[in-house]
Amino acid sequence: METVLVTGAGGYIGTTLVPMLLEKGYRVRALDRFFFGRELLAAHENLEMIQEDARFVSPAHLEGIDHVIDLVAISNDPSGDAFEKETYEINHLARANTARLAKAAGVKRYILPSSCSIYGFQEPGVIASETTPTNPLTTYAKANELAEKDVLPLASSDFTVIVLRQATVYGYSPRMRFDLAINGMTFGAWKTGALPLMRDGSQWRPMVHVKDTARAQIFMLTAPADKVNGQLFNVGSEKNNYQIGPLAEKVAAVVPRDVQIEWYGDVDHRSYRVSFDKLHALGYQALYEAEDGVRELVEALEAGKTDRTTKTITLEWYKQLIAWHEQIRALELHGGMLKI
Ligand SMILES: NC(=O)c1ccc[n+]([C@@H]2O[C@H](COP(=O)([O-])OP(=O)(O)OC[C@H]3O[C@@H](n4cnc5c(N)ncnc54)[C@H](O)[C@@H]3O)[C@@H](O)[C@H]2O)c1
Repeated sequence: METVLVTGAGGYIGTTLVPMLLEKGYRVRALDRFFFGRELLAAHENLEMIQEDARFVSPAHLEGIDHVIDLVAISNDPSGDAFEKETYEINHLARANTARLAKAAGVKRYILPSSCSIYGFQEPGVIASETTPTNPLTTYAKANELAEKDVLPLASSDFTVIVLRQATVYGYSPRMRFDLAINGMTFGAWKTGALPLMRDGSQWRPMVHVKDTARAQIFMLTAPADKVNGQLFNVGSEKNNYQIGPLAEKVAAVVPRDVQIEWYGDVDHRSYRVSFDKLHALGYQALYEAEDGVRELVEALEAGKTDRTTKTITLEWYKQLIAWHEQIRALELHGGMLKI
């Protein structure tokens, strides 16, 4: 039985990936601060939970580990702008450190889940492949690129390093995120009939279902090393390359009520169309399209299984945690509040 260290395991992708790994017969060491709650990962005999900050990963965390999937991050552009220093510390430096420790500990594979957002704005007509010059526009995208640059050179005959540039993810997951395009559109359309759409709708954005990106990470644990070692792969599919305006119409068509588009924001300059041929050629295929994600989200919302709470908007939740922390510190005396 092989053991996978998953950092950021309590997050949107992690809480979908970990049960899939367990189901496949892997043992999982889930390392996270669990900002979104420990209860999102159900107890399992082959699951070990470690509450730790990624900036404090030590050799002991890598003992007995065969593979690392290093998901941990401050995970979107607005949070990256709000917490710039921490985003570089966590998304770049901590992950580079974990990769170096993994190599030193004799781990076989290290997978860095990066983001297609590092393509940033591309000229109309460009379809970004793994060799297209990047254009990271935000702190979040820049930190991802720095992490890629630090981990790829660690690849060697006994240490396989793979970078996965994931498209924007959608679909239901136990740690729900309504700050992702399709999920946010679906919630607005379902709740009020107003579908939030970032101007001007012509921007291209590749998408991938959360189960499909988790499948890609699992696929890479056993893909032939000579075909993947030291390589970058875009994760998504041609069918999931969308222009935001037409995508909104697809979302609206699935939600069972009258839906109006509600424009917001300045014109979004991040526009990138992406080629997924390299991953496809290895034999990986995405199974889902946007409509599948919208349908399952509507079902989860109707069943009361999820809702758009502060916790589902990453930046709002981090700001809330910090505000509570400050308030508690200001009031705490002699090690407690009333109970001391
Ligand atoms: N969701 C997407 O659309 C998408 C797209 C492309 C790339 N990615 C990348 O995939 C990865 C996972 O994204 P996600 O959507 O699951 O994000 P998420 O915010 O849901 O999960 C991140 C997890 O990391 C944990 N965390 C944050 N800082 C930590 C720290 N210092 N120490 C320990 N744990 C910490 C959080 O508690 C959380 O559980 C990230 O690297 C993200 O950049 C996501």
